[in-house]
Amino acid sequence: VWNSREFDDHEQVCFFSDAATGLRAVVAIHSTALGPAAGGTRFKHYEHDQLALDDALRLSKAMSYKSALAGLPLGGGKAIIIGEPTKLKNRPLLHAFGRYIDRIGRYFATGEDVGMSVADIDTVHEVTPFVGGTSAGTGDPSIYTAIGVIHGLRAVMQRQFDRSDFDGVRIAIQGLGAVGWGVAERLHQAGARLVVADIRDEKVREAVNRFGAEASDTAGVHAADVDVFMPCALGGIITERSAGEISARAVAGAANNQLATPAAGDALARRSILFAPDYVINAGGIISGLEALADMPGRIRPALGPLEERLAAIHQRLASIFERSSRDGTTPEVTAEIMARELITRAGLSGARP
Ligand code: NAI
Repeated sequence: VWNSREFDDHEQVCFFSDAATGLRAVVAIHSTALGPAAGGTRFKHYEHDQLALDDALRLSKAMSYKSALAGLPLGGGKAIIIGEPTKLKNRPLLHAFGRYIDRIGRYFATGEDVGMSVADIDTVHEVTPFVGGTSAGTGDPSIYTAIGVIHGLRAVMQRQFDRSDFDGVRIAIQGLGAVGWGVAERLHQAGARLVVADIRDEKVREAVNRFGAEASDTAGVHAADVDVFMPCALGGIITERSAGEISARAVAGAANNQLATPAAGDALARRSILFAPDYVINAGGIISGLEALADMPGRIRPALGPLEERLAAIHQRLASIFERSSRDGTTPEVTAEIMARELITRAGLSGARP
């Protein structure tokens, strides 16, 4: 069933196929009002194509909001390669995909996401300059995402606990992957007491040994007796039900699309649990990739401050979202969306479109 209302919000959606390699892909460009669209490539099996399209539409819009609120001269887009990567992925297919990306490179550039590695991005890069995060370039963005999350977490601490340090603060981390581990390391160094969960037991054991963390089971970590809960694994983790089980006073993590539904966000707000909108707190990766994106052919290189300062700005951005949200009586996620749309609309009206 074609979701036309969702589609109306997007500038362009492209479907690509290549019979020789079995490539089937969709690229959604939500907005180029603030600059050329940027967004990762997800390689994933879907039960049917409509779900892949839905993902592309939803994720590209989130990228627009993420870049707008991070103050970046970028729009939002997303690419999906449809199919099981372990069965389908090979060099000719990635090259075919890259040739299509090259066609729309004036408006869109891509990078790594679920199902794509830095090595895959290198392969795509062999046929198009419009990819970021290659091994020779900025590489894995997760370290910058983790640094940005810590900056954002200080804004959460200030707002909800009236302090910005982590000494003795109890924090539960769900997912000790590339980002979650980087976050755990930094919080441990800053004196936080960690509760951790991961489906990979070896990562949990390592965190127990290295950080003196307490291990939690994956099903119950959201309900741990802590001050802050940090989802750093999967999306959709906050449902109306799980929101009712959280004992932390704040939810602030790296995972994309943490709220399963808008009602889940309302449920957190009703319980006075502060939610840090995910695409604001996890923007460190895209912030770090800006240089690479600005250097692509035909792009205008904006004046950029030092990376560390641009990552630190996540703190102030979240603080202003929290302020406006309490002033307007709206949840932080609704406020963030309103603010992002204001920025995109203003740029669209001023004709900044590439
Ligand atoms: P990752 O794949 O390296 O780590 C995810 C971790 O979560 C793995 O250790 C995995 O074993 C664990 N996990 C999976 N299911 C779990 C469950 N049910 N309970 C507990 N742990 C579970 O991924 P990465 O890069 O660390 O990303 C984490 C989240 O942050 C994802 O939602 C991603 O979309 C988001 N994100 C990542 C960025 C980046 O720069 N890597 C940028 C922005 C968002």
